[in-house]
Amino acid sequence: MVTMGKRLTCLRLQLAAIFVVTVLRGTDAITITSTGPQTIQKAQGDTVTLGCTYSTASTDTGSLDIEWLNVRPDMTQKDQLILSYTGGQMLHYGDPSLSARLSFTQDPTQGDASINLTGLKTTDTATYQCKVKKSPGVDMRKVTLVVMGPPSVPKCWVKGSEYKGSDAVLQCRSSTGSIPLTYVWTRETGGSMPPTATQNGQSGELLIRNNSQSYSGNYLCVVSNPVGQAQCQYTLNAYDPPNKAGIIAGAVIGALLLLLLLLFLIWLLICCCHKRRYEKEVAHEIREDAPAPDSRPGSRNSSFRSVLGYRSHAGVVYSSVRNARPNRTQSSNSSMKNGRNNSMQKPSEQKVAPVPPPVLKYDSAYGYAV
Ligand SMILES: *[C@@H]1O[C@H](CO)[C@@H](O)[C@H](O)[C@H]1NC(C)=O
Ligand SMILES: *[C@@H]1O[C@H](CO)[C@@H](O)[C@H](O)[C@H]1NC(C)=O
Repeated sequence: MVTMGKRLTCLRLQLAAIFVVTVLRGTDAITITSTGPQTIQKAQGDTVTLGCTYSTASTDTGSLDIEWLNVRPDMTQKDQLILSYTGGQMLHYGDPSLSARLSFTQDPTQGDASINLTGLKTTDTATYQCKVKKSPGVDMRKVTLVVMGPPSVPKCWVKGSEYKGSDAVLQCRSSTGSIPLTYVWTRETGGSMPPTATQNGQSGELLIRNNSQSYSGNYLCVVSNPVGQAQCQYTLNAYDPPNKAGIIAGAVIGALLLLLLLLFLIWLLICCCHKRRYEKEVAHEIREDAPAPDSRPGSRNSSFRSVLGYRSHAGVVYSSVRNARPNRTQSSNSSMKNGRNNSMQKPSEQKVAPVPPPVLKYDSAYGYAV
């Protein structure tokens, strides 16, 4: 108990000492007397006053020295001096686009070193420090300025359908403006907000479940942030949903038409193929009659070209291969291959096929090479 009491007395003494020191300092030296918010929010284009009133003490005998600094958020960077009053002279520093908009609100020697910054830009967002010195006294104050862009005029539209019984979603969105943006939907005409309506102030969505005639009318969206607001409007309707029987009938008819079209296409294809195959057969017969010029030595290229030409018409070529086979030395080999993989081997058979029998030696070499 005794030690407890001693401790309390000790604490009281300490508090008293702190109080005395504070009071003494207050009367003894220069003190910035400006109060007000540490953070000021302003809209783009506005003028802001950064307050820095001060009172001097009789002990402060030195010359008055006032400095305004732009305090960098990054500790490793040097704070930027932007305005000073030293030796009876006012001086601007740094970025001219800032200093041109910066001035003391009045004669800074008369206890008010506040500044005005006009034509605010979002890039002026920073922490500013006022430092008043009159030796040996010195004091300083920091204030953070946040310059915000007001929201642009939003767009209002509906997402999804506006049919009776379905869910309608009204969307409101502002494309520019400093965050946080807040959206509020209200109903302008036709009564109070539908009981099935829910809204999201951050996304700007108004969901109206089970839309009905009684919900139609004008809805207003207001978007705001601390420095401005804007609005748009949407007229909600409640249309009769399309006839279901009609949709089904339409779908059935559509499907039938599609089927007919497919059948027609298939018929067309079959017809066409038959015709072309017949034409090819005729053409090939004519060509088989004239392989003689091809067979002369050094005509490899031309025979190869004809090979390529045949490749796409397997049926035709196949019959010619059969015709040629009895005259060929490697025919057994290729027929073995053919047995193994019928579909794969067709092209290789085609290659040898058009080469006529008279150049047997040359042709076999070619066949093996491939
Ligand atoms: C400073 O700005 C305030 C508005 O913030 C204005 O009323 C005042 O006249 C301005 N003073 C000077 C000297 O520009
Ligand atoms: C939708 O609204 C109608 C009246 O407009 C009501 O009869 C029906 O029960 C509602 N449906 C749902 C799912 O709430």
